Formats: sequence, C-alpha cells, structure tokens
Amino acid sequence: MPKKTVKDIDVAGKRVLVRVDFNVPLDREGKVADDTRIVAALPTIKYLVDEKARVILMSHLGRPKGKVDERYRMAPVAERLKQLLDAPVRYVDDCTGEKAQRAVEALAGGEVLLLENVRFYPEEEKNEEKFARRLAELGDIYVNDAFGAAHRAHASTEGVAEFLPAVAGFLMEKEISMLSRVLTAPAKPFVAIIGGAKVSDKIAVIDNLLQKVDALLIGGGMANTFLKAEGIEVGKSLLEADKVDMAGGLVQKARARGVELLLPVDVVVAPAASPDAQSKVVPVGEIPEEFMALDIGPQTVQNFAARIKDAATVVWNGPMGVFEMEPFAGGTVAVARALAESNAVTVIGGGDSAAAVKKAGVADKITHISTGGGASLEFLEGKELPGVAALQDK
Ligand code: 3PG
Repeated sequence: MPKKTVKDIDVAGKRVLVRVDFNVPLDREGKVADDTRIVAALPTIKYLVDEKARVILMSHLGRPKGKVDERYRMAPVAERLKQLLDAPVRYVDDCTGEKAQRAVEALAGGEVLLLENVRFYPEEEKNEEKFARRLAELGDIYVNDAFGAAHRAHASTEGVAEFLPAVAGFLMEKEISMLSRVLTAPAKPFVAIIGGAKVSDKIAVIDNLLQKVDALLIGGGMANTFLKAEGIEVGKSLLEADKVDMAGGLVQKARARGVELLLPVDVVVAPAASPDAQSKVVPVGEIPEEFMALDIGPQTVQNFAARIKDAATVVWNGPMGVFEMEPFAGGTVAVARALAESNAVTVIGGGDSAAAVKKAGVADKITHISTGGGASLEFLEGKELPGVAALQDK
C-alpha cells in the first residue's frame, strides 16, 4: 500500500479525527439494521483506543441535503458502536463549532467521540475550504477509514486532509490492497461477473476489466442491451436502446482481446417485475413480446458456475436479476454460492452483490467483500479516488 497508515504515525494522546463510513441502513424504529460498516471500522478504532489516542469519529448518514434532518442523526450509530466496542462512546449533536470543540476537549486518551452527521452542513458536499478547516481544528491527525465514501471529494473525505497529517485506517488499507491486487496482479484465469440493471453504469468498469480478464460474465438487466446488440429480441425487458451500439462495441472489444464473453443463454421471464407474477424459463431467443427477463436461467447459471469453478481470481459486481423478489433471486444466489465454493480469490464490489452473498448465507466464504458500492466500482474502473489521493504517500 503506497499510502501511510495509522501505524506510520504517533497517535498516543493526540486528537485523531477519523472519517468513517457509518452510512448504514436504519430500520423503522431508527435503529441500525445492518452494522457491517461499523464492524469493519472496529480494527482502526480499537487500535487508536489501545494506543491511547483521543478518538474523534465523523461520518455522513443518508443524504440529508445540507440540512439537519432528525432521521439522519448519528445517535443510533453511537449506540450500536458502544455495544460493539463494549466501551462508552460519546456523541455530540454537531460536527463543528463550539459544542463539538467542547466535546473534543473533554475527551481523554483512549476515549471515543462520535460527531453529528457531516452532511447536515451544505459545505460538506461542496468541499468548502472554510468548513474543512473547521473540521481540521478538531484534530491533530486525520485518518481516513471511509473507503465507502472515498470516491467523494467532500470536506470530510478530501478537503480536511490538506490541513492535517493525513493517513489511512486499516479498513481503507485492506480495501485498497485487495482491490489493487485483483487489478494489478490477478492470479489467472481471472473472471469478472458484472450485473445490475443498467449497462450505462457499468461501461467504464467493463472497459477497464476487459484489459485484464480471461472471461467476462454478464447478467442482470444490463444483459438485455448486450443481447439486443447480438440481434436477440428481448420483449418488454429493461433495455437501454441508446446503449445498444456501445454494448456491441464492448462485445467486439472482448472478442478482439480474446476475452471469453458469456451472456445469458436462458432467462426467467414474467409479464411484470412483481413477486407474484407468473414466471417461466425460456431460451434467450424465445422471450415472448409481452414478457420481461428478470433473472438468468438455470443453463446460464451452470455456464457461469463452470467458469467460476476454473477461475483463480473472481471479481463480482451487480446482481444477476431482481434478487429482492424471491422468484427472481435464484440466479444471483447461485452465483454467490458458486463464488463461495470456488478456490479462487473472490472479491465482491459492495452494494447489491454484498447483500446477495449475505442473503445466500455465504459471506464468510468470500475472500473480500468491499464496504464500498460506488467507491469499489470507481476503483475497478481504474479511477483514482479523491479520498485516497489526499492521503500522505509512504
Ligand atoms: C455509500 O453508501 O455508497 C457511501 O456511503 C456513499 O454514500 P453517497 O452515495 O450518499 O455519497
């Protein structure tokens, strides 16, 4: 890892301002519904506590659009963190100004404070220098452990790094080394599985991965646009008509590079994307005009699983169908299981694919599940993430 980490800097007794990505789902009662991201940040927090640093955590939660929004307060996150750390966690309902300053001053070495949602201020997303300076005033050292937000050039993820010694936390380090490993030195054969609804979201990642992989497996709603480019009619399926040529171009590129490209050969179709719609399996050449493809079919699952079995490295981003609905979850769950059973290094770009491996109950059998959705996608596109670029080089 080319960036300095918390281990490269003396933190004892210092005010360490840590950007974490505690943007977690909340349930109806406002409690944390999935604490994966909080758990993932614990190694850094525990290390700083053990080193007797004064630990000041900051994060965004949701998209409150620069205003105080009661639904997005960090209080429930502080509560969950307290349980996970089995230690007190202080919480202050502001992330800057006098109140926050006072809370920081009251903090002793080895104690933890969680600041209020940084997105309650519009200056955060605008990355305003004055605001970044005000955040920086709270610490002596800045640690970025928020890989999931590293693709955002915001005040708390990027701007603040200009005013303090800035290093990576352990989660950031792990994410970067795992994702870099598959991009720069993947064991071969290297297989990428790309899914999700829209091809337009995935063009850049496919383009980058085509230069590296031996096989590319495409599923999800976006596969329809590829099928159409191959001259196959897709009925009422989700289709990006203006991206058909682009998809055709990617197919050509794959062939020219000798990358094996696997598209669905059969699909689960229904008249509508509804959990109680009548569904059936058809070959891709026979999608009825009034039906839409909502999952990959069993033959496609077999083809994909065979490629995954032979692979030494697998990267997966995006579900194979509308996996939130039981009748269309089979393909995604089967791909998750195939990854779990393979001996390959398996890396999952966060978001929906991460949810799918959890749903399949195989999360512990995956080499690395990224905590970043957009961030892991941009990393796999080959982009430099602003939150990483801002950190000090080793
Ligand atoms: C995420 O959930 O992907 C990150 O926390 C970033 O959130 P954002 O898309 O609202 O910037």
